[in-house]
Amino acid sequence: MRRLGIAFLGLGLVALGLVVGTVGAQEGFLDGTRDPAHPYDAQIRDNTRALISEGRNTFRYDTFGSEAFFGNTIGLHKAIEGDKFGGVVGGVSPKAALGVGLKVDADALPPEVVQAIQAGQVNLDDPAVTLTLLKLGAVVGVTGIFNDADQPTQGLKAVGIQCALCHSTVDDSFAPGIGHRLDGWPNQDLNVGAVINLAPDLSAVDRLLGVDDATTRKVLQSWGPGKFDAELFMDGKAFRPDGGDAATLIPPAFGLAGVNLHTYTGWGSVTYWNAFVANLEMHGQPGTFYDPRLDNAEKFPVAARSGFGHVSTPPGEDRISPKLPALHVYQLALPAPTPPAGSFDTAAADRGKVVFNGPGKCASCHVPPTFTEPGWNMHTAQEIGIDDFQANRSPDGRYRTTPLAGRLFNRTRGFYHDGRFATLPDVVNHYDDVLKLGLTDAQKQDLVAYLKSI
Ligand code: HEC
Ligand code: HEC
Repeated sequence: MRRLGIAFLGLGLVALGLVVGTVGAQEGFLDGTRDPAHPYDAQIRDNTRALISEGRNTFRYDTFGSEAFFGNTIGLHKAIEGDKFGGVVGGVSPKAALGVGLKVDADALPPEVVQAIQAGQVNLDDPAVTLTLLKLGAVVGVTGIFNDADQPTQGLKAVGIQCALCHSTVDDSFAPGIGHRLDGWPNQDLNVGAVINLAPDLSAVDRLLGVDDATTRKVLQSWGPGKFDAELFMDGKAFRPDGGDAATLIPPAFGLAGVNLHTYTGWGSVTYWNAFVANLEMHGQPGTFYDPRLDNAEKFPVAARSGFGHVSTPPGEDRISPKLPALHVYQLALPAPTPPAGSFDTAAADRGKVVFNGPGKCASCHVPPTFTEPGWNMHTAQEIGIDDFQANRSPDGRYRTTPLAGRLFNRTRGFYHDGRFATLPDVVNHYDDVLKLGLTDAQKQDLVAYLKSI
């Protein structure tokens, strides 16, 4: 018997060696330094590369036709260019644009423009410079469509927006607000409401929501930086029962691979939400979107009367649906960023990990490495000890367990869906109360260090 056991062990080790050998042979699969064993493997490799690069393009640069809404319908471009270039009022200078949190992609600036800025020869108070930046494709998440493509001074015909407007920022390497793009990092400075409020004609939004213009503008103004209310255009609920604004924090779009449901309230998968956003929030067109849950007139009065759950476009004319596969792959490829060395106490973080996985009970919901549950990652408001206002604005009436990696160390707008907890110690104290954990002060501090480290 024992002999047989040893023989099996020997066989097992041989098998393990084979497995390790096979893993070794995969090195160079994507970079092409080794020939794939089979033509289908080569096809997988080429497909992966093509999807990632097409998806990145879509994420960064595709307006999905949203210029029809932001340009023709609400006239945002007129406010940006100002009356000097055929628009309205003074226009938006680069300083003002940076002031509402818009970011500039330094890699899109040609060397002569970089030099001119460095030499102080560019007037950042002049809206004409904003037009130049738009012409260069340097305003992250916003595309200008010009009356004359060669003459930015002939003014804008429209502007369209991209995913990158909210879900990218820059690393500030050139100046505050100007640097290399960081795809998937939430723009915590962007004041979406203030940007839309610049538009001269919001009557289409007033009609959609069934309110007067002053109300629309008051609601937009209530969100503040780093927030947006995606559910407003479904249910028309502009304020919380306690009178606070009903917007949520703009979440990261990285670190989502392996996570089942998305958005703070688990509306669906990443690709579900991408289709939702492109069709219903960015007002992309023409596209296709199907979700009969939005026919529930009690829960989603605005969506139900507008037919948002039944957007359809004949194949061939649909501008959104063909983009969704690659966009999905690119988003899932965005890794959670690593907190910088020195930004947390490593010894405390090591001890905090033990609290997270043990007495803190955190890992019972935030299961590493995704830090959300494999499976149906949803909880009632009661389970996490908060009100159910936002949960009830979604089909399932619950909150999704937020994946935590890479999103806590540099947060500036608070934690939880609406930023209600200003600091991580506030979050930990909340759980200590609600889950009756009885953590010591030392355990709480260690737990916070761990949260900053993931
Ligand atoms: C105007 C700002 C804005 C734009 C533009 C925008 N989003 Fe979002 N996005 C949000 C907000 C706010 C949420 C949170 C919504 C919620 O939870 O109810 C969100 C949620 C998401 C999520 C879920 C994240 C998670 O943690 O599960 C994904 C994925 C996403 N957006 C992708 C996209 C893509 C792709 C585009 C472009 C097609 C896009 N977004 C355009 C603001 C924006
Ligand atoms: C019952 C499941 C559950 C348990 C247990 C739990 N969480 Fe959460 N956690 C959630 C849900 C759901 C949310 C989303 C809440 C929201 O956005 O309003 C969340 C949100 C968070 C956030 C905010 C993330 C962000 O991006 O703003 C942090 C931080 C967090 N949890 C840490 C912890 C820690 C630390 C523990 C242990 C002390 C813990 N959680 C225990 C379910 C849980």
